[in-house]
Amino acid sequence: MAETIHITADRSQTREVYRELLEQVKALLGSERDEIACLANVSAALAEVFGHHWIGFYLVRGEELVLGPFQGPVACTRISFGKGVCGTAWKGKTTQRVDDVDLFPGHIACSALSKSEIVVPVFDASGRVKAVLDIDSSEYARFQPADQDGLEALCAFLTSHLYL
Ligand code: SME
Repeated sequence: MAETIHITADRSQTREVYRELLEQVKALLGSERDEIACLANVSAALAEVFGHHWIGFYLVRGEELVLGPFQGPVACTRISFGKGVCGTAWKGKTTQRVDDVDLFPGHIACSALSKSEIVVPVFDASGRVKAVLDIDSSEYARFQPADQDGLEALCAFLTSHLYL
């Protein structure tokens, strides 16, 4: 397994940063298929590259999302279907990109420092949501279309690696 993440692209080249990150995540996970181990290292890799306020996964467990591997301050442990940004991404099976969390009806505030957020669903082979990737930033409108595309590509890789 590759044990370090090293991005050479200029940070202004967002798409290139994600392309490099995805290749390195593939090497990092290698043949490891344990869900917790893989999601823990993906959280750590994202934190290392981007340093956002909170980065982590919530896992679908019955009718709720339950806190999974993450990097950042302590967070709420359970989110109901359709609730908050995470539950909305799960219910709608679509990425939620929120420029100002205070303007999102029902946003669940785990931290007063969070200003913008992106939540990307992770699917299984049948299109069921298995988990969501949640990233919070202390900056408004931190997540742009290039971030959404890069994170969706990363989550598509997780589908093929963990949930086929
Ligand atoms: N803000 C999320 C809750 C999870 S925390 O951000 C870690 C939401 O509204 O679903």
